[in-house]
Amino acid sequence: MSERPAPRVIAARAAPPRKPTVMIAPEQIADLVDQFYSAIRRHERLGPLFEAKLAGQWEPHLDRMNRFWRSVLLHSGEYSGQPVAKHNSLPGLEEDDFRLWLELFEATTDRLFEPRTAAPILMTARRIARSLWLSRFGTPFNRPPEWLD
Ligand code: HEM
Repeated sequence: MSERPAPRVIAARAAPPRKPTVMIAPEQIADLVDQFYSAIRRHERLGPLFEAKLAGQWEPHLDRMNRFWRSVLLHSGEYSGQPVAKHNSLPGLEEDDFRLWLELFEATTDRLFEPRTAAPILMTARRIARSLWLSRFGTPFNRPPEWLD
């Protein structure tokens, strides 16, 4: 009888930390979140949409959004939540609201950061917006508009 080969032992090793997507400090993310949601609250269409859900709960929302963006951009791993379910059940949300959201987000990142920082943040936001849009409005007969490309 032939001897079985000795099992190979593969050492378990923690995955190396992933590099941040963008060179940005947590304080800059805090500025972005602060300025973006200030603009949202002043926006004629989006302001009331957010307010309907978040009246009296803006502080925990802004904390959550800071954790979300630090997780996305710096891979801090601090955010866990259900963004798809939350946006799928948002009353009154329309397809074009995502365009308005992205317009405001772009205006904020352009104002706060230089282009090499703003561009990858906006690209990331557009990718997530597209997946939220698809989940809420996408069907084989309703494909995402070109402003989500
Ligand atoms: C028209 C577009 C959008 C509207 C009106 C909107 C509105 C809202 C509202 C009202 C909430 C709070 C929901 C709740 O607590 O029940 C929320 C949560 C959130 N939104 Fe949006 N949103 C929009 C687009 C986006 C986009 C494009 C992103 C990401 C790039 C995003 C990321 C999030 C995240 C991470 C949460 C927290 C979800 C959780 O509770 O874990 N949203 N949004």
